[in-house]
Amino acid sequence: MPAGLQIAPSILAADYAKLGAEVAEAEEAGAEWFQIDVMDGHFVPNLTIGLPVLESLRAVTDTFLDVHLMIDNPGAFLEPFAEAGADLITVHQEASTHLHGDLRRIRAAGCYAGVALNPATPAETLSEVLGQVDLVLVMTVNPGFGGQEFIREAVPKISTVLRMAADRGLAPPAIQVDGGIDPTSAPACAAAGASSFVAGSSVFRWAPGIAANVAALRAALALGA
Ligand code: DX5
Repeated sequence: MPAGLQIAPSILAADYAKLGAEVAEAEEAGAEWFQIDVMDGHFVPNLTIGLPVLESLRAVTDTFLDVHLMIDNPGAFLEPFAEAGADLITVHQEASTHLHGDLRRIRAAGCYAGVALNPATPAETLSEVLGQVDLVLVMTVNPGFGGQEFIREAVPKISTVLRMAADRGLAPPAIQVDGGIDPTSAPACAAAGASSFVAGSSVFRWAPGIAANVAALRAALALGA
């Protein structure tokens, strides 16, 4: 996995009428990754984007593309998202019936493998698959929508995951947080051990604008870390 801290704007909050330009602006401002939130209207009560958007983005950027699958039966879509250009594919522990197999297939398809935990799902549910993951996504909102309030109670789960890996003699997975991430909430997550910060509204929707918002997040992380 890429080292250091990553700011990963979630394109769910971008203006799709000018997605390419907004992605380029965030890249210019130093964003290291982009998260693509795929929702199916079943696993979460919202319907968003899929393979065509990923293919279009892949064609215009070399930046790391992180696909967050919030769908039932993610196993049916792993290889297609890898072929469409994903660098990382994250499935939800709550949605994947064959989690161990799905994680292995993601890696076999040439991508980094991630697993996401909803706020209500304990870290211990990952005890049998921690050796198969490159990244653990600790959701800091209940998935489905941008612009929600940050759930502070999810933060301790970060150190629980890292401790579980250490207790098993495993290399620590990268820890990502997602939902309500902004210059106020990000530092506490970094202090607990997170290294990847998904931010939608605080990058694409807040004043003064994309470049300043990315800079503000980075400054807060530098200060807080
Ligand atoms: C929510 C998504 C998030 C969301 C983040 O289910 O997984 O990536 O877009 O948006 P903000 O940063 O606005 O909470």
